[in-house]
Amino acid sequence: MELSHTVAALLVACFAGLGCIQAVTLDVKEGNSTCIKAELSASFSITYDTISSTRTVQVPLPDSATVDTGSSSCGTDESLPWLVAVFGPGHALGLSFSSNGSLYSVANLTLQYNLSDSATFPEANSSDVVTVVSATVGIWAAINTTYHCVSPVTLRVGGATVTFSDMRLEAFMPGNDLSPTESVCMADTTTTTAPPTAAASTTAAPAPTPSGTPEHGTYSVKNNNGTVCLLAQMGLQFNISYVSKSQNKTVQDLVNLTPSQTNVSGLCEASRATLVLTEEPNTTLSFTFTLNSTTNKYHLSGISLLAMWPDMTARFLASNTSLEYLRSSLGRSYMCNAEQTLIVEPTLSLNTFRLQVQPFGVITDQFATAEECQMDQDQMLIPIIVGAALAGLVLIVLIAYLIGRKRSHAGYQTI
Ligand SMILES: *[C@@H]1O[C@H](CO)[C@@H](O)[C@H](O)[C@H]1NC(C)=O
Ligand SMILES: *[C@@H]1O[C@H](CO)[C@@H](O)[C@H](O)[C@H]1NC(C)=O
Ligand SMILES: *[C@@H]1O[C@H](CO)[C@@H](O)[C@H](O)[C@H]1NC(C)=O
Ligand SMILES: *[C@@H]1O[C@H](CO)[C@@H](O)[C@H](O)[C@H]1NC(C)=O
Ligand SMILES: *[C@@H]1O[C@H](CO)[C@@H](O)[C@H](O)[C@H]1NC(C)=O
Ligand SMILES: *[C@@H]1O[C@H](CO)[C@@H](O)[C@H](O)[C@H]1NC(C)=O
Ligand SMILES: *[C@@H]1O[C@H](CO)[C@@H](O)[C@H](O)[C@H]1NC(C)=O
Ligand SMILES: *[C@@H]1O[C@H](CO)[C@@H](O)[C@H](O)[C@H]1NC(C)=O
Ligand SMILES: *[C@@H]1O[C@H](CO)[C@@H](O)[C@H](O)[C@H]1NC(C)=O
Ligand SMILES: *[C@@H]1O[C@H](CO)[C@@H](O)[C@H](O)[C@H]1NC(C)=O
Ligand SMILES: *[C@@H]1O[C@H](CO)[C@@H](O)[C@H](O)[C@H]1NC(C)=O
Repeated sequence: MELSHTVAALLVACFAGLGCIQAVTLDVKEGNSTCIKAELSASFSITYDTISSTRTVQVPLPDSATVDTGSSSCGTDESLPWLVAVFGPGHALGLSFSSNGSLYSVANLTLQYNLSDSATFPEANSSDVVTVVSATVGIWAAINTTYHCVSPVTLRVGGATVTFSDMRLEAFMPGNDLSPTESVCMADTTTTTAPPTAAASTTAAPAPTPSGTPEHGTYSVKNNNGTVCLLAQMGLQFNISYVSKSQNKTVQDLVNLTPSQTNVSGLCEASRATLVLTEEPNTTLSFTFTLNSTTNKYHLSGISLLAMWPDMTARFLASNTSLEYLRSSLGRSYMCNAEQTLIVEPTLSLNTFRLQVQPFGVITDQFATAEECQMDQDQMLIPIIVGAALAGLVLIVLIAYLIGRKRSHAGYQTI
């Protein structure tokens, strides 16, 4: 059996100071076929003893983490599939998977850390390599689907905690890439699982307000240290098609997001930023922006909507992570005053109104100079063309007048 591995860093650079969160891709292969693949960000909170007291450090899973091909495996009759990522001097994160044919789950999670690493664990009074294991992980999904959890999930492992965020993973994979069908974790669906009961009672949970031009909302996301790292303002309208409970058929609906009822969260990373807008209790919209650090250009690369409105027969999920909208440059904001349509999936598009966003390089809570969308530039062109035409006309009239005046002047002189 030959094992190989690949590790790709999706997000490379790391914010100075706190909260260095990086997404890493880890996979375990046997021959040419991949059996476990994980795309995740993880950080560990580890408490250890110093000579005088105890200390807690936050350790991120760095993008330099690699799959340990020696201990990782696709599983045999006797052993479970196991993904082991190693990083730093002797630290490791292990996930083992089991399945019963219809579901698979993380059977146990292992964290190993080396207290002799004095850069990570300063003044530790021990030089042990500590291994902690948790067998109650609660990460499971249907077989042939990808487990997906945008929300941070914190797990206790011995005296440490592990926080995963923006996690996609699959074990017992049917193909070499993550299955397109996703099993969304409870944390991402909690806002949408309540409504069925609420809808059954007389006070139905409100769906976002039906159409008209949407209200303009202003949203911002802060860093760990409280500085604003993402700014956005826009009016938002969903153009959504779903199966209506009351009409017993698929309906096309225009629904506005109400800024005053919307909670904002998100995450800023070196080359990825996420804005999550939640209209309680049943609508979660997220935008993912990606920065290409080679070209210093960014764009809106992903949109996902999770909704469970009272009239929906099932939870609505639309997600597309290969979008190329709102392109602009690092150090600039993107602006589009004209109405724009962002198609997500055949069942969902978003109409944006008076939009301005800046997902990267925000300084002092202010939008930087805007790069305007083509539609705005075209609209600005109309007054310019009209103005230029008018100026031309005035000039022609003036020249004609001057010529005429000169001629008549000359006429007087000859008399
Ligand atoms: C806050 O953190 C960001 C990156 O994490 C850094 O660029 C910025 O300088 C920090 N601001 C302050 C006031 O510490
Ligand atoms: C792996 O792929 C290579 C080239 O695509 C092929 O030559 C080789 O036979 C494959 N090996 C296995 C075990 O499938
Ligand atoms: C965790 O899983 C690994 C791999 O399957 C196994 O070797 C180890 O014994 C398990 N640990 C516990 C405590 O179950
Ligand atoms: C633990 O860290 C020390 C110091 O960095 C290193 O010398 C040692 O090899 C590490 N232990 C393991 C098991 O990797
Ligand atoms: C697998 O486990 C789940 C939950 O424990 C159960 O609902 C399901 O029926 C099991 N499937 C099989 C094939 O045993
Ligand atoms: C480290 O310190 C803790 C508490 O201060 C103590 O219980 C422990 O025995 C010490 N360990 C070593 C190896 O000295
Ligand atoms: C999973 O996919 C594989 C290959 O496509 C298929 O053989 C298998 O029956 C599927 N399993 C389930 C439970 O759908
Ligand atoms: C909504 O989407 C449908 C289907 O994609 C399209 O025909 C319709 O024009 C859209 N309406 C608005 C107001 O965007
Ligand atoms: C909904 O429509 C389908 C056919 O379109 C029909 O079979 C079903 O009975 C209808 N359900 C209700 C509750 O009216
Ligand atoms: C950045 O852009 C360059 C040029 O368009 C492209 O070749 C490269 O693959 C991009 N990098 C990423 C990480 O998307
Ligand atoms: C996602 O968006 C891309 C680009 O707009 C489009 O080509 C693709 O079909 C979309 N995917 C889905 C599942 O709709």
